[in-house]
Amino acid sequence: MCIKETHAVTGAFGYTGKYIAAQLLARGHRVITLTNSLHKPNPFGEHIQAFPFNRDRPERLTETLRGVRVLYNTYWVRFNHRTFSHAQAVEHTMRLFQAAKKAGVERIVHVSITNPSLDSPYDYFRGKAILEKALQESNLSYAILRPTVIFGKEDILINNIAWAIRTLPVMGVFGDGSYRLQPIYVEDFAELAVIHGSSTENIILNAIGPETFTYKELVRTIAAAIGKPRPIMHVPPRLGYVAGWLIGKWVGDVFITWEEIRALMDDLLFVDAPPAGRTRLSDWVHAHADVLGNHYASELARRKRSGAPG
Ligand SMILES: NC(=O)c1ccc[n+]([C@@H]2O[C@H](COP(=O)([O-])OP(=O)(O)OC[C@H]3O[C@@H](n4cnc5c(N)ncnc54)[C@H](OP(=O)(O)O)[C@@H]3O)[C@@H](O)[C@H]2O)c1
Repeated sequence: MCIKETHAVTGAFGYTGKYIAAQLLARGHRVITLTNSLHKPNPFGEHIQAFPFNRDRPERLTETLRGVRVLYNTYWVRFNHRTFSHAQAVEHTMRLFQAAKKAGVERIVHVSITNPSLDSPYDYFRGKAILEKALQESNLSYAILRPTVIFGKEDILINNIAWAIRTLPVMGVFGDGSYRLQPIYVEDFAELAVIHGSSTENIILNAIGPETFTYKELVRTIAAAIGKPRPIMHVPPRLGYVAGWLIGKWVGDVFITWEEIRALMDDLLFVDAPPAGRTRLSDWVHAHADVLGNHYASELARRKRSGAPG
């Protein structure tokens, strides 16, 4: 066990943040979380104290971060919506970095995305690039992790592909389906985050898994694992978007956005880099075939349940 240090995780009751927090606790650290969702159930009980993110009260945010050695930032929003946006998430994260610096936080492990770019036409990838640049220029010690898709029990994307395969008689792929993804397992990702939290080297790392799939192969792999080998239909992206939009209306969520489709088809979830995770998605989907996609995972319902302002 190492010396008891205080580490802070944004969104420790969310998806990736929960796994990072669990691994920090297992290493004997004191862990706090900054959250927009104080009413979310706390799976760690008394082991993790939750503080409001205070994204509009920088002094309070700084106070909360005093005494913290490493901050793990998972905070982000998946798409632009009436009640939240990438631009706001950029603004809030900038405030978080500034507060961390003022509070004397030594290191930030920041979760980004593969292929961020300041010139990107996509708010998600551009926003992530703005934040990476801000962190690199902050003089704080940093590790920037760039995952593609993070899979695990609470994941949305892989689960909802499985759900669509179970629900629909035919599975559509956008265009030729040849664009690629390199999914990393959430436990592997959390381990990576924690390892890089304890280092001091400034680093930007592509956090990808050991397998590369084309989107079409990914759909086939999931379909075979869950025993629903559906016919695959190539659909023009616009038509696929409309179908996704209709599904979204049906389930009361945003199923997929036009930006997500475009970024996927631009191969932005692929990088030519060595794998950083060990767990193979193809093994994992087999091991979870009985539950994967049995229920739709709703982004908006999660936000609603969290009671967060957005
Ligand atoms: N999941 C993936 O496949 C994937 C792929 C590539 C990159 N990433 C990156 O990995 C990081 C973690 O992703 P995740 O999938 O684990 O996300 P998540 O748990 O859904 O979101 C991370 C945290 O951000 C806060 N948050 C999310 N949506 C919000 C909203 N609309 N308004 C206010 N706060 C919101 C939540 O914290 P509180 O509610 O506690 O504040 C949440 O715990 C993100 O930076 C994401 O960009 C994820």
